[in-house]
Amino acid sequence: MVERERIIVECLDFNHQGQGVCKPNSFPIFVDFLLIGEIAEIEIIKLTKNYGFGKILKLIKVSADRVKPPCPAFGKCGGCEIMHMRYDAQLAFKQQMGINTLKKIAHLRNLPVSGIVGMDQPFYYRNKVQIPFQKVKNQVICGFFKKNSHEIFPMERCFIQPELATKIALFVGNLMNQYQIPAYDEERQSGCLRHVLIRSNSKNEFMLVLVTNTKELPHANQLIKSLQNEFPLIKTIIQNINNEKTNVVLGKKNLVHMGSGFLREELLGLTFAVSPHSFFQTNYEQTSKLYRQVLKYANPQLTDVIVDGYCGVGTIAVFLARFCKRVVGIEIVKEAVQDARANALLNNISNVEFIVGKTEEEIYKFSLGEINILIIDPPRKGCAPQLLQAIIEKQIPKIVYVSCNVATLARDLAFLSSNYEIKDVTFFDMFPQISDVEICVLLQIT
Ligand SMILES: C[S@@+](CC[C@H](N)C(=O)[O-])C[C@H]1O[C@@H](n2cnc3c(N)ncnc32)[C@H](O)[C@@H]1O
Repeated sequence: MVERERIIVECLDFNHQGQGVCKPNSFPIFVDFLLIGEIAEIEIIKLTKNYGFGKILKLIKVSADRVKPPCPAFGKCGGCEIMHMRYDAQLAFKQQMGINTLKKIAHLRNLPVSGIVGMDQPFYYRNKVQIPFQKVKNQVICGFFKKNSHEIFPMERCFIQPELATKIALFVGNLMNQYQIPAYDEERQSGCLRHVLIRSNSKNEFMLVLVTNTKELPHANQLIKSLQNEFPLIKTIIQNINNEKTNVVLGKKNLVHMGSGFLREELLGLTFAVSPHSFFQTNYEQTSKLYRQVLKYANPQLTDVIVDGYCGVGTIAVFLARFCKRVVGIEIVKEAVQDARANALLNNISNVEFIVGKTEEEIYKFSLGEINILIIDPPRKGCAPQLLQAIIEKQIPKIVYVSCNVATLARDLAFLSSNYEIKDVTFFDMFPQISDVEICVLLQIT
């Protein structure tokens, strides 16, 4: 086999990104947008020693799971990966991928899986978007990075974020052109606007963050006025200054130009305020379902002490507080802890406490037997080994592990499985049209 060769293949499986896996002469070739059971003529676009990549030239046999993606940019913009799959097939794919990864990495067999919880309408769900800006042919444009690239595919419409978020970003682009405010130039580290970050809530209210390379926001008054007039649903506008050479979107400093500097969201009968730097789950509908599952798994008694590790703005801690004696939330981002404390006050919850720090360090300050239930919801890299060690040393009876990365979850479960039994696993589709899946696991000490 050589690059640019055309061959006919049958798709046998998916990899974790939803690419079709074919094995001509037992050699794995990954093909974007090919579904299991489909036969296609493909072109080999890249070969390595152990595997290759192909692109579809012509579909010869088409799967019943294939749908026409509603988005005209699908396949070009690098955002959605599996919009060509019927939604029920997306759910089945995610659950199967999750189970396969847990089996492969953690050797967990006969897992007690309760299923996967999907959305009724799997579009327009993202409540936070970060949209980069670039200068192309003397015009400021915004869009999404093409797959594995820093080149922007210009955005016209997006089917996973609120339609108003798209309109706001495009309007900001027009203002930049009107006032001749340059987009950030990554190579020269010059120019002004790098990104906009837009958060929305279920009332369709918006927070707009303009991330600039410069300390000044040129024509700030005119920009804010135009945005306010055009979009009364924008409740707060913030300038974030980021003049570092980095892929991290937000810099450290925020300047509030309009409104309170945070956005409020109602969830499970509670109110939460979120500021630009704080983590908040990106899909409200699914977050309510996930947190109800956390409560069901935790099943706290009014005498229980719960630790909510990696607590973000304290959503899980505040939600669980009504059902137990005390909750302690631990979170590394100072601003998120400030939000978490404000959120406890906002909801008249007094039996929660929030600590700024690393979960893997703060957990050692609890005595043996003090923690009845531990909730852990780490970022994609999973738990620090020190935390897993502490869980075993402290003999915490019950753990609810929420994960957005099944590979690191599997690694951590493999470590814990010597002392803990997995009682139940539920998958949640927080990211329809994208291959990621959220997992909630109940573990009990053996
Ligand atoms: C996936 S989010 C979960 C937040 C929260 N549980 C929720 O549902 O909104 C992970 C959080 O862990 C925080 N974090 C990352 N590393 C940490 C560490 N070592 N100790 C404590 N918090 C950490 C991040 O800032 C982020 O807020």
